[in-house]
Amino acid sequence: MNARPATLLVIFGATGDLAQRMLLPSLLGLERDGLLPDRLAILGAARTELTRHEFRSQAHELLVQQLDDDREDWTEAMDRLLSRIDYLPVDLSSEASLDTFTADVDQRRGDGDVLFHLSTAPSWYPAICSGLARAGLNGENARVMMEKPIGHDLLSSMEINDCIGQSFAEQQIYRVDHYLGKEGVQNLLALRFSNALFEPLWNSQHIEQVQITVAETVGLEDRAGYYDEYGAMRDMVQNHVLQLLCLTAMEPPARFDPTAVRNEKLKVLRSLRPIDGRESESCSASGQYSAGAIDGEAVPGYLDELGRDSDTETFVALRAHIDNWRWSGVPFYLRTGKRLPKRLTEIYIRFRPVPHSIFQHDRSSIKPNALIIRLQPEEHISLCLMNKKPGLDRDGVQLSQVALDLDRHNAFDGVRRRMAYERLYLDAIDGNGTLFVRRDEVEAAWQWVDTIFEGWKANDVTPRKYPAGTWGPSSAVVLSERHGHSWRE
Ligand code: BG6
Repeated sequence: MNARPATLLVIFGATGDLAQRMLLPSLLGLERDGLLPDRLAILGAARTELTRHEFRSQAHELLVQQLDDDREDWTEAMDRLLSRIDYLPVDLSSEASLDTFTADVDQRRGDGDVLFHLSTAPSWYPAICSGLARAGLNGENARVMMEKPIGHDLLSSMEINDCIGQSFAEQQIYRVDHYLGKEGVQNLLALRFSNALFEPLWNSQHIEQVQITVAETVGLEDRAGYYDEYGAMRDMVQNHVLQLLCLTAMEPPARFDPTAVRNEKLKVLRSLRPIDGRESESCSASGQYSAGAIDGEAVPGYLDELGRDSDTETFVALRAHIDNWRWSGVPFYLRTGKRLPKRLTEIYIRFRPVPHSIFQHDRSSIKPNALIIRLQPEEHISLCLMNKKPGLDRDGVQLSQVALDLDRHNAFDGVRRRMAYERLYLDAIDGNGTLFVRRDEVEAAWQWVDTIFEGWKANDVTPRKYPAGTWGPSSAVVLSERHGHSWRE
C-alpha cells in the first residue's frame, strides 16, 4: 500500500495567470485520469490574503469556465482535486513572512517529497530559494520547478542560477520550457529517432534549408509590464525557438535520458555561429506591429496597446548557422512574432533539388521535396513529393507536387490532447529531468542571443514597423530573399 512517498506540491504565484490558465487545469486533467499520486497534496501560495475556502472557490470557478465539454464527467475529478488543495498567503518581500510560510510547509510535508513550482516573476527566485534553504527545505527529497525567463541576459541569468545553486543542486532544479511538454514537440524526437528513413538524409548533403516559425495572433494580452521588458527575442527565441532548433538539429542521443538528450541539445547551442557585427544586420530582422487586421478584425498597434513609446521588438527573424559537420552551410531561418496572420508553429525542412531532370518538357515544375512538421494549432506532418499528373502525356510527362499527409488527430482519434504541464508535472514528481532545461543550455542560449543584441546596439538597429496581420517587416523577407530563399507562408 502507498509505496510512493507522500508528495507536497507548492505552487508559488498560485493566483497568477499561468497557474489559473495552465497549472490548475493540467492538474485537473491528471486527476481525472487517476494519474496524480494518491498522497499528493497541493499548496497554493501568493501574496493575496485568501482562506483555503476562498482559494478553492476561485479555482473551482476558473476551472469550470475552462471546461467546455463533458462537464458531468469532470465533476468528481474536480471535487477530488479541490480536496487536495490548500492555500497560504506569503509576502515574498518579507523574510519573516517567508519564514513563517516555510515553517508551515515543513510541518505539512513530514518526511515526504516536496516539489516547489516557482510561477512568480523570476526576480523572486533567489529570495524564495534561500528562504527554502533557511528552513531546510532543500534536502534530497526536495525539487524546484521554475518558469522562464531565467534572467534577461547571460549575466543576470548566471546571477539567478548562482543564487539558486547555493540552495539546490542542479539535479534538483527543473527549468520549464513548456514547449518541451507539448505532444507535437516530443513527437519531433519520435519522428527523427524511431524512423530509419530520415537519418541518412538529415544533413547538409540533402537538406537545403530549415525554417522554424512560431507565429501568434495575440498581442500584448494582459502582460504589458512583462512583455515590454523582454520582447520577442527574450520571450520566445531564447527559449522556445532555440529548443525547437535543438531538437531538429541535434545528433541522435544514445538514450532518452536527461543527460544524453541535454548534452546533445547543448552541443547544438554551442555550435551556433554568433550573429555579430555586420552579420547582425544581414542575418537578423526585428519588428514591432502597428495597427492592422487579423481575420478581418481591426487590432490596435503595439504602442497603442502599451499606452506609451517603446522600442521593444514583437517580431524577430534570424538566419542562423550551426557550425558542425552535419549542418555546415545549411541556413536555419527562425522567426517568431505577435499579431501575425495566424497561429502557427511549424518546422519546414526543404531538401535539395534533384541533380538532373530527365523530364525535359516539365523541368521547371520539379520542386524540391519538403517535410513539414506542424506542431500547432494542429499536429500535422506532410511530406511533399513530386508526382506525375494523370494523363496521356503526349507532350511529355506533366509533374505536380503533392503531399503525403499525416493528421495526428485522426491517426490517434479519441486520444485526449494533454496540456504541456500534465506531462511536465508528472516528470517533475517522478524526478525525470529529460524535458527540462539544464543550466548550461539556458546560458548558452543567452550567450548567443546577447551577441545579437550587442550587434543591434552597435548598429543602431531598431524594430521596423509591420502592420498587424502580416508576416513581419520587409527586412524579414529580404533576409531570406537575399540568399535566393523565401519564407513558407
Ligand atoms: C510563453 C510566452 O512562454 O509562450 C508568451 O511568454 C507566448 O508570450 C506563449 O504567448 C506561447 O505559448 P503557446 O503554448 O501558446 O504556443
